This record gives sequence, C-alpha cells and structure tokens, in this order.
Amino acid sequence: MIASPFGTNGDGDRLLHLQAVSKEYSAGPAAVRAVRSVNLTLTRGEFVLLEGPSGSGKTTLLSIMGLLMKPSHGKIYLHGQDVTTLGEDHLPALRLKHVGFIFQTFNLFPALTAHQNVALALKLKGVGWRARRKEATRLLDRVGLSDCMHRKPMELSGGQRQRVSIARALCGSADVLLADEPTAALDTETGLSIMQLLKEQTLDGQRAVFVVTHDPRLQKFATRVDRITDGQLSVGKPLEGSPLAARPEDSTVRARRVEDCERILAAAEMPTPEPEALAAQQDAQIARDVEGAEEGTPAGNGQPGAAGAAHTPQPTTAGE
Ligand SMILES: Nc1ncnc2c1ncn2[C@@H]1O[C@H](COP(=O)(O)OP(=O)(O)O)[C@@H](O)[C@H]1O
Ligand SMILES: [Mg+2]
Repeated sequence: MIASPFGTNGDGDRLLHLQAVSKEYSAGPAAVRAVRSVNLTLTRGEFVLLEGPSGSGKTTLLSIMGLLMKPSHGKIYLHGQDVTTLGEDHLPALRLKHVGFIFQTFNLFPALTAHQNVALALKLKGVGWRARRKEATRLLDRVGLSDCMHRKPMELSGGQRQRVSIARALCGSADVLLADEPTAALDTETGLSIMQLLKEQTLDGQRAVFVVTHDPRLQKFATRVDRITDGQLSVGKPLEGSPLAARPEDSTVRARRVEDCERILAAAEMPTPEPEALAAQQDAQIARDVEGAEEGTPAGNGQPGAAGAAHTPQPTTAGE
C-alpha cells in the first residue's frame, strides 16, 4: 500500500509517536528545559522539516526520537510499541533496525572507502558478508555513487560524502530517517540535490524522513514543517509536496556527479581507468573490503566497533 503523505494514514503507518515528551538537563545550579511537553507523530511517507533557532531543542528532540536519549517525562512509541522504559540491552537493536541518522558532518570513517563504510553498517545489522557486499553496492548505486564507491571520504566532495551517509542510513530496514542539518556544510545546489535524494526515500510510502534545517528554501520538499521555540514544538499543517520535489533526479544531475568523480581522479593525477579495468579493480577492492570488514574494527578510527559511526552523534573525523 502506498501511504498518503498527508497524515491521514492508519495506525499501521505510524512509525514514531512522542507523547508529552520533555527533557531537562541539569546544568549547574539551574536545570535547562530543552524540550517541553512535545507531541509528535511521524508517519510513513512523511517528509517533515523542523525549524527553530539555535538552542531551541532541535538536536535534543532528534536524539530522543532516535532513541539515543531518554526523555525526562513522556512516552515514546516506535511501531506502536512503548519503548520509553526499555533499557540499553534492547535499545541498540531497535535503533539498528529502524533508525538511520544523517549528520551535518557526515561522520564517516575516514580510513574506510565509501563501500566499506556502508558494508560496515550492514555488518552491524547482522548482514552476512556476501549479501553485504552486494547490498552496499546497491545502496551506493541508489544514491548515485556507483562511480566513486571505492574512494575514501577525503577523495569525495561534501555532497558525495553526504550521499554515502544517506546510503549508510538506508541500510537494513531503517524506516525512520533522522537528519540534523544535513545540508548545512554544503553549497546550495549540492544541498538541494541531497534534499531531493532524501525526499526520494519517502516516495514509496515506506519510510519517513525528519530533517532539522535552518534553510527555508528546503520547505518545497516538505509534507509538513514543524517549528520549535524554547523547547516548545508547534506541529505544522500538512502540505502538498511540490511536483518538483517529487521528480526523480534527471540525467543532467547524474552526469554532473560522474564529472565530479572524474575531476577528483584528475586532481589526484590518476588516469581514468577503462570501464573493464575499473570493474576488475572494483571486484578486487570489494574482496579486500569484505576481508577488512571481517577483521572487525576499521583501521585508524581508534574506536571500538563502528556502531557510533552510524548511530551516535560524534564529532567528525572525516577531515572537513
Ligand atoms: N548535554 C547538555 N547539558 C546541558 N544542557 C544542554 C546539553 N545539550 C543541550 N543543552 C541545552 O539545551 C538547549 C537545547 O539544545 P539543543 O537541543 O542542542 O538545541 P539546538 O539543536 O536547537 O541548537 C540549549 O539551551 C542547550 O544549551
Ligand atoms: Mg543542534
């Protein structure tokens, strides 16, 4: 069934529901009331923007929605299940299954290629190595990176890095995609193409995307625009998505991305390989990727495992 993006769906389409959720931080002598009695529902097919000034509670709200932070009060339902009081023994599995995070600073592992970054997220979700090799390739193709999947983050443009992080967020059956200012580090055109890509992820009516942004130009993508001020959320009215926003990426944009890859190759003074040579190179690289991922912790990131890369906000090491 294709869900209506306008919030008239049945309960089966309700992915996430926050009921009277508040969050207080104890900072020094006075508590900070970062989120105040928020009621919010996220339904399949929705593309919701959250706007609000700095310090208004956007990141706190997103962390609560992504089950990274417990609210001080209120209840959270994921797929109709009350998850408010679940402990850390259950939450990681739920996050891995349902939630994909996309950050302003990408949070990719700098020592791993795009393909390895995605394959690692799949590994965490329990996908076997053969399937993960294929699935990482499919996901990177889906975000338009089939030509650059064996490059490391430093060899990719900002827009391409964000595409990798979207591919990673789409791993497994994630149906709640949460993005914290995903276009803030990008130029306008690249930012719009990233929003287009996020929008596309909602068009089959299976997932919902919730995006924190300061940029009013992105409103044309939204099915709803919510606003938060001093921790108080005002839920917007359903909007009809513009036909422009729903249009799949055209061939010009795709060609431009291919050009991007070629420019990066040229800058690195590497000859552009012939297609057959490239395919052989990719096969060899995928084999090495899988071996590398089998080894466990990626080299050079200094963190145990990689759950944090996909699911915990951390300062980036991607060399922005
Ligand atoms: N870990 C923390 N400890 C204490 N106060 C915090 C913490 N994180 C955020 N805050 C405060 O909570 C409020 C909301 O912060 P945040 O959710 O980061 O807002 P936004 O993302 O809209 O800028 C701010 O007043 C901020 O200073
Ligand atoms: Mg923030």
